[in-house]
Amino acid sequence: KILVLDFGSQYAQLIARRVREQNVYAAIVRHDIPAERVQEIAPRGLIFSGGPASVHWNDSPRCDPDLFQLNLPILGICYGMQLVCQSLGGKVESQRGREYGPALCRIREPNELFEGLPNEFQVWMSHGDQVTAISEEFTVLASTDSCPLAAVKHRRRPIYGLQFHPEVTHTSYGSQILANFVKRVCGCQGTWKLTDFAEETIAEIRQRVGSNRVICGLSGGVDSSVTAALLSRAVGDQTACILVDNGLMRRGEIESVIEEFSKHFKTDLHVVRAEDRFLAALAGVTDPQEKRKIIGRIFIDCFAEEAAKIPRARFLAQGTLYPDVIESGGLRDGPAATIKLHHNVGGLPQDLQFELIEPLRNLFKDEVRQLGLQLGLPEEIVWRHPFPGPGLAVRCLGAVTKERLEILRQADAIVVEEIKKAGWYRKTAQAFAVLLPVQTVGVMGDARTYEEVIAVRAVDTEDFMTADWSRLPYDLLGRIATRIINEVPGINRVVYDISSKPPATIEWE
Ligand code: XMP
Repeated sequence: KILVLDFGSQYAQLIARRVREQNVYAAIVRHDIPAERVQEIAPRGLIFSGGPASVHWNDSPRCDPDLFQLNLPILGICYGMQLVCQSLGGKVESQRGREYGPALCRIREPNELFEGLPNEFQVWMSHGDQVTAISEEFTVLASTDSCPLAAVKHRRRPIYGLQFHPEVTHTSYGSQILANFVKRVCGCQGTWKLTDFAEETIAEIRQRVGSNRVICGLSGGVDSSVTAALLSRAVGDQTACILVDNGLMRRGEIESVIEEFSKHFKTDLHVVRAEDRFLAALAGVTDPQEKRKIIGRIFIDCFAEEAAKIPRARFLAQGTLYPDVIESGGLRDGPAATIKLHHNVGGLPQDLQFELIEPLRNLFKDEVRQLGLQLGLPEEIVWRHPFPGPGLAVRCLGAVTKERLEILRQADAIVVEEIKKAGWYRKTAQAFAVLLPVQTVGVMGDARTYEEVIAVRAVDTEDFMTADWSRLPYDLLGRIATRIINEVPGINRVVYDISSKPPATIEWE
């Protein structure tokens, strides 16, 4: 096993995932994990992630200095490298201009980390500071034009530093470098599988829950369904699932979830009808973060009320994925910058009476899908496009009203229906409609119209951390637009969103 110490990187989980792709288990831990705890876990090696901080800041995230005495292999990436080098006698300087983007890296000394690589390869840089001097204990392994110390190694110990990011696909041979680290340097065999993860997780849940009862929030999406499947394997009859109908779901979704549930799960299902409550609280609210907070709060209230009806309920299970965690500001109080408040993470009150179970917290979406298939869930659930917790509220830009939601729901159903019909549903990762609070002029028949706009969004992505817009065929886009304008009252214009993430996000709010 490998531990990835998270110094607030948007990429910490990507590092863990690249390691798991080598069939070596990797888990993320806080950057300040005590050396003693690391000894108990007994990993084969440590990877220090990057992060937005500078080692010169007073409050920058540090690691336990005793980690360097454990004689474990360490790979520091970006900020992780700067921290390692500074801790072991090197010097880090803040550069005048940040370096962001591709660079050509030349190997200066053959070594285990770069085994099997050509002498020159492309790397991805994203940093403000860089290491400008290393102690005599270190040697330079590779350089780029603007970064002479792009890769370094301790002369006597298995400690490495990389200024570039091997975990992103823009670094050619990045996976090879990580594979070399975990296999050649750390000596991992590469025999771990996702099925091991399922078995271990089921056993862990069983042990943690004991004879108590667990409540599981069900949304119908793949994440909560896989969570429910793990629970029903682990502690089936002690589980009660709660589905909150917040009035913000896609068309027909609640009914289909109830139907699927009765087919595939043997646990209780409680459906809370709370549409009015959500819409009343959202009335007049247009700020995206505010919407998320309100929805998160009411969601938890509904949950708590329903849960109170279930005796001996001590645990709350959620299908939180790593991207939700990281984009909501890292590991609860971790160092990553907040991009969006995901309601299932950011909205949890401090005095929650439940203990949380988040079995998917370390996984990416595609890993969850694989797991779902292994657990025997139907393809209909496993391949359903993800849907945000705050639902259509964050796709109904501006005020959220029952009428506007209905317009959006109709448009969204057309988008999904046409995409399925054209055989594109599995080729795109997520596709949906967004209702814009903008009126534009049109002409229908002989009359002038002044109505709202629907934006269509479809993206290709593996992990939802980065995404590109899907190259849907023009004919398909044409059919979607024609149908929406003809069939959905109040809409006279359809546009297609061609932004990538970053710098845009997938959702509009
Ligand atoms: P963004 O918009 O951040 O979305 O690029 C990335 C993925 O996360 C979904 N998403 C959410 N999921 N609660 C969730 O459970 C949320 O608050 C939330 N916001 C976004 C989004 O649909 C996409 O798949």
